[in-house]
Amino acid sequence: MTTPPVWSNPLRDPRDRRLPRIAGPSGMVLFGVTGDLSRKKIMPAIYDLANRGLLPPGFSLTGFARRDWADQDFAQIVHDSVKAHARTEFREEVWQQLAEGFRFVPGNFDDDQAFERLRRTIEELDEVRGTGGNHAFYLAIPPGFFADVVGQLQEHGLTEGRGDSWRRVVVEKPFGHDLESARQLNAVLDEVFPSGSIFRIDHYLGKETVQNILALRFANAMFEPIWNANYVDHVQITMAEDVGIGGRAGYYDGIGAARDVIQNHLLQLMALVAMEEPTSFDAESLRIEKQKVLSSVVLPRRLDLTTARGQYAAGWAGGEEVIGFLEEEGIKRTSSTETYAAVTLNVDTRRWAGVPFYLRTGKRLGRRVTEVAVVFKRAPHLPFAASSTEELTQNALVIRVQPDEGVTMRFGSKVPGTQMEIRDVNMDFAYGGAFTESSPEAYERLILDVLLGDPPLFPRHEEVELSWKILDPILEHWAKQDEQRKSKPEQYESGGWGPSSSDAMLARDGRVWRRP
Ligand code: BG6
Repeated sequence: MTTPPVWSNPLRDPRDRRLPRIAGPSGMVLFGVTGDLSRKKIMPAIYDLANRGLLPPGFSLTGFARRDWADQDFAQIVHDSVKAHARTEFREEVWQQLAEGFRFVPGNFDDDQAFERLRRTIEELDEVRGTGGNHAFYLAIPPGFFADVVGQLQEHGLTEGRGDSWRRVVVEKPFGHDLESARQLNAVLDEVFPSGSIFRIDHYLGKETVQNILALRFANAMFEPIWNANYVDHVQITMAEDVGIGGRAGYYDGIGAARDVIQNHLLQLMALVAMEEPTSFDAESLRIEKQKVLSSVVLPRRLDLTTARGQYAAGWAGGEEVIGFLEEEGIKRTSSTETYAAVTLNVDTRRWAGVPFYLRTGKRLGRRVTEVAVVFKRAPHLPFAASSTEELTQNALVIRVQPDEGVTMRFGSKVPGTQMEIRDVNMDFAYGGAFTESSPEAYERLILDVLLGDPPLFPRHEEVELSWKILDPILEHWAKQDEQRKSKPEQYESGGWGPSSSDAMLARDGRVWRRP
């Protein structure tokens, strides 16, 4: 007799996870309303949630910024952002109802009076919109300001709800620039908010295809038995972007690809691919398993041979001629910030001993694509003539995170009409073909989870710190190379697939990067 899996046991989890969840009475205060993130992601996601009927009728959005705006000016900003970036269609009646809950509080982060105004605004919203004292403070601002804002919120009595009401804080990466600064940031937040009220956004965890890694692995019988060092040769995790740094020179220079993407998105992907089955899908059980993976990561000894970094040079992208990273406005001509990074990591557990995880990310590459490729060992014996299998490579399971969401299985098949020639073929599952509804944006899911107080998709400070522990020695190694002028980021052509040192890194192990 088989026992039902633990998450389908109503005693363990009484909620029916198929039903849509609707947030209860609540509001959100947004710091950093003029930034790209707010305009391109947060505001449109709030509208999309309202459009899907998942926000409470009295939901309120309060903007806080150093602008001389009235409520209507703020509403106009949100309107423009929704029109330009929302996923779902614009419906006037939804917009009108949502816009009634918009407020704007002008002020600086060191302006006591502004935070007093914010307090009064929130009280007024509780009265007229029925937000019930439940408010999330979304810090879409550089982390250097977290301490000021959080301190002000505390000083003005905004961090603790009365009775059953809640206060939560939402923070965006970068969670520091190394282990030490991450610890300091965490301390700033921990001092004011209990850990259950801190929501750190890693928007990759909000993507449907990333959540599907858990479904694929743990809802099926056929993958898990081969998901280990006996069958897996290596794992490649790729996040390639075709765009350059855009207008983000101020943020990007000195940060670079490894801190921007590997420290968070790619290590989280790796943790989901490598972790053991959690006892349930609650936040604590997931964190325990992810944390075990992150704390089992061991770096190879020779970082010069097992990492690679580069900077995009001028070239062609999307049919247009583009400039190189060092020519971008706001970037120092001598900058050694990498726009491409590749690392080799080992997960020192029985399941993964000897299976390298190769992680790479880069800007201005040939195509925008994020995928996880689990590449299997060759069959132990091939009862065919060598010439029959010349075109056969290794089996692979590719989780296509974006943009063409789905899963591909690559395996060998006989070529029709030949006596016996075997060649790679692909078997595809595409979200678009299997489901009629389109996937919500990551920010829709994550903002809803904040309002519901549902924490599984938010990394905890332990995971953030462990990720820095993995990355710090690599960053130090690169910094030392720069200091001693031993090496610097290799220039790679825009529109290509990154620096040759990255290909050489895999070639040393007898492997090649996939060309998605
Ligand atoms: C962000 C990085 O976290 O992710 C950006 O800071 C990057 O540099 C972005 O462009 C990519 O996100 P997505 O969802 O488009 O893959």
